[in-house]
Amino acid sequence: MKALQLFLLAVLTVVATGLETSQGRANDSKEGLGIVHYQPEQVHLAFGDNLQDIVVTWSTRGPSNSSQVNYARNYAKDPLTVVKGTWKRFVDGGKKARTQYVHSVELKDLQPDTRYEYTCGSEVGWSPVFNFKTPPAGQDWSPSLAIFGDMGNENAQSLGRLQQDTERGMYDAIIHVGDFAYDMDTSNAAVGDAYMRQIESVAAYVPYMVCPGNHEEKYNFSNYRARFNMPGDTDSLWYSFNLGPVHFVSFSTEVYYFLGYGFKLLTKQFEWLEQDLAEANLPENRAKRPWIVTYGHRPMYCSDEKEYDCNKQLETYIRQGLPMLKWFGLEDLFYKHGVDVEIFAHEHFYTRLWPIYDFKVYNGSAEAPYTNPKAPIQIITGSAGCKEEREPFSKDLPEWNAYHSNDYGYTRLKAHNGTHLYFEQVSDDKDGQIVDSFWVIKDSHGSYPEVQ
Ligand SMILES: *[C@@H]1O[C@H](CO)[C@@H](O)[C@H](O)[C@H]1NC(C)=O
Ligand SMILES: *[C@@H]1O[C@H](CO)[C@@H](O)[C@H](O)[C@H]1NC(C)=O
Ligand SMILES: *[C@@H]1O[C@H](CO)[C@@H](O)[C@H](O)[C@H]1NC(C)=O
Ligand SMILES: *[C@@H]1O[C@H](CO)[C@@H](O)[C@H](O)[C@H]1NC(C)=O
Ligand SMILES: *[C@@H]1O[C@H](CO)[C@@H](O)[C@H](O)[C@H]1NC(C)=O
Ligand SMILES: [Fe+2]
Repeated sequence: MKALQLFLLAVLTVVATGLETSQGRANDSKEGLGIVHYQPEQVHLAFGDNLQDIVVTWSTRGPSNSSQVNYARNYAKDPLTVVKGTWKRFVDGGKKARTQYVHSVELKDLQPDTRYEYTCGSEVGWSPVFNFKTPPAGQDWSPSLAIFGDMGNENAQSLGRLQQDTERGMYDAIIHVGDFAYDMDTSNAAVGDAYMRQIESVAAYVPYMVCPGNHEEKYNFSNYRARFNMPGDTDSLWYSFNLGPVHFVSFSTEVYYFLGYGFKLLTKQFEWLEQDLAEANLPENRAKRPWIVTYGHRPMYCSDEKEYDCNKQLETYIRQGLPMLKWFGLEDLFYKHGVDVEIFAHEHFYTRLWPIYDFKVYNGSAEAPYTNPKAPIQIITGSAGCKEEREPFSKDLPEWNAYHSNDYGYTRLKAHNGTHLYFEQVSDDKDGQIVDSFWVIKDSHGSYPEVQ
């Protein structure tokens, strides 16, 4: 009897202690209570300036004053390689001026085609052990990517499937074509933090490559610029990287719209694009790495009834350049340098276009429109899921519209080799079913024949 009473008392004590602890934890999440937050969170990867470099980025709420990555092929058994990096204090532009410390470490000269395990943090707190695989050396391999835009914190419908795909090793990289979290600055940037934690199970394992969208505009894109570390030195606004047989070019469509942040950004990006594409299009580079694929947030063509941007009379700034002046238009630039595929988002749906230049369709042939097409192929993939939900198509679909879907989902790209690219569209609404797929086949790459 006595023993049982003692036992019950012990159980009650343990339960009560547990309650106290969980209440204490609940209070931890409130800020400004003198509690330290040195634990790494929001861990994500990107390719560095060289193909074999990987950049690890994470946040701590408090100043841990040190940024370190420990890695090894086998974390439990091998000696760890220790790399130190840098951190910066990021103060959100909202009323609360909420502060966090964004850490980044670049891992250089990794072995190609090798899986590494890593932790990040500092002496006052380490992340769990994550892992990534470096790309194989050279061009002769077939990278697989997931590509989408417009994914939010709320209603991120595709995220669960993307997490599963990624954890099963399906992708070498992810490309998020602008519009994150809805929005990263919302609620004094707490929404941005929640989003970056949501994607950790994807982004801590494969490079998560990005470009800015209109939803990142607040405070001169400060949340976007602080949280991501893309290659180059443009605050992640525009850059390029190579993956197998593909040269990927990322750019900001927003420099055409938010001119208040600096006209210079628009001119600098345009100059950079001219130079980067001209170089990628040199015959010796095309021979090595035949495909050029661009991604930017707002599309050149769209058939969305609500969107003023899609109205032919008004013209899109990025296609034709600034209104009236027609300066810095991208359609001509991309055409001139033989861009193969252009990927956009912004419209919350998926659209595949026939090869197109200046509103005219340039099929390779009627039977095989994407075999040796005579103009770039464009797709819009902005349906990953966000709180602004789906957007309606125009009732009269234009001639260039090859396929469209309103399903939530994302695009997969597999670059088989220098002649064959394969795209497929995953529908999350239809439980992962592939609702569209197509091959782009090219015997040669380069500038398109002059249009008559
Ligand atoms: C948690 O916060 C509430 C209200 O802010 C306070 O009343 C309570 O005492 C706190 N609990 C602990 C364990 O600090
Ligand atoms: C980092 O530096 C700040 C300012 O000197 C200090 O308040 C804080 O305690 C330091 N953090 C750690 C983990 O030592
Ligand atoms: C906005 O940020 C960019 C860097 O990304 C900078 O070049 C530009 O001057 C900033 N504009 C303003 C108005 O602060
Ligand atoms: C392009 O090819 C598609 C598929 O064969 C066809 O439906 C469409 O009419 C073609 N467009 C032109 C302008 O030839
Ligand atoms: C390129 O990939 C396609 C599709 O997998 C294949 O049919 C073709 O034979 C490959 N070409 C070369 C040169 O390997
Ligand atoms: Fe957008």
